Amino acid sequence: MRKQRSILVTGGAGYIGSHVVLQLVEAGERVVVLDNLSTGFAEAVVDAELVVGDVGDSALVQRLLHQHDCDTVMHFAARTIVPESVADPLRYYGNNTCATRNLLQACAQADVRQIVFSSTAAVYGNPSEGRAREDTPPAPINPYGRSKLMSEWMLRDFAAAGGPRYVALRYFNVAGCDPQGRIGQSTREATLLVKVACETALGKRPHLSIFGTDYATPDGTGVRDYIHVSDLARAHLDALTYLRDGGESTTLNCGYGHGYSVREVLDAVGRAHGKPVPCMECARRPGDPPTLVAEAQRIRHLLDWQPQYDDLDFIARTSLEWERRLDGLGAIRPWPMQEQEDLPGTPPPPRPAYAHGAALR
Ligand code: UD1
Repeated sequence: MRKQRSILVTGGAGYIGSHVVLQLVEAGERVVVLDNLSTGFAEAVVDAELVVGDVGDSALVQRLLHQHDCDTVMHFAARTIVPESVADPLRYYGNNTCATRNLLQACAQADVRQIVFSSTAAVYGNPSEGRAREDTPPAPINPYGRSKLMSEWMLRDFAAAGGPRYVALRYFNVAGCDPQGRIGQSTREATLLVKVACETALGKRPHLSIFGTDYATPDGTGVRDYIHVSDLARAHLDALTYLRDGGESTTLNCGYGHGYSVREVLDAVGRAHGKPVPCMECARRPGDPPTLVAEAQRIRHLLDWQPQYDDLDFIARTSLEWERRLDGLGAIRPWPMQEQEDLPGTPPPPRPAYAHGAALR
């Protein structure tokens, strides 16, 4: 029988990466996680080895690829906050684009056969009609989207020049947490709607600001395609199977193909909590498109991806349960945004203990 090779998961201690690691381990894969813990948490890595370091550190990555005999890389490590990318673009081009270039350089020196890349719907910018297909011309409107699009281009050019085949997954609005409550979204100073709504429901914030009520949408608030993180994680395993079976390099939208408004999301979190989420109507947030929904047939056909949690109430329930769990762990405390540069050579500051590994009762 052929020797089982390993998967290097960069950013595997983060929100999405940790859910993918969990499913890979459950599927019997050998996994090694590389994460600098600048935004991730060691405790989110369940039953896999964690190496603390930077994805942009080619020498380290090359050593890991050899030591662990990796034939696959799943690349999540990145900064992902849009307003931060506008304020500090070089940090995004450094951490997302340059680090990806260094990672690919390390892959070139090792026997990596396939790459699954964490991309974003932010590459589309503001598509007409609010719907994006994979062949909709990318037109990112912020450095975050551009930093990811450049990474996609590098993957494409590298593959064309004989590098590993890849699947780039363009995520829409990821939400929810592991249905068994083992891990979840622990991001500090979160900006994403579902997380902020859950924090507000539990009294960690006084109210939620609805950014814009005058959009040309059914109820005037922004519409997005919310996808449960466990379904998204499954798409990565399906992409791996596809690549192992010899599939060609490709780029796929990851969404359900239908959207919900901000008010619908707040209603769902309110239902999960048993009372309405306190909110205030505010001005539009600069740079927000009115509607952004995936055309999502391609991933189902090509990867035979079969989502199980296309249910806004389930997304809200699992998010809220995790948020309560964080409370019980006493894990919520003020934590400043990272000020340090995340490129090689600057270890992150120590983090408070954080018991992600514990199961919900
Ligand atoms: C998110 C991601 C982006 C990704 C995109 C895919 C971040 C910061 N953004 O953007 O990278 O490409 O999904 O579609 O990771 N809203 C409020 N009040 C709040 C927060 C949000 O009204 O407190 C509204 C927004 O105006 C928007 C909707 O909720 O209409 C979703 O916003 P958010 O959860 O921040 O995600 P996106 O901005 O869509």
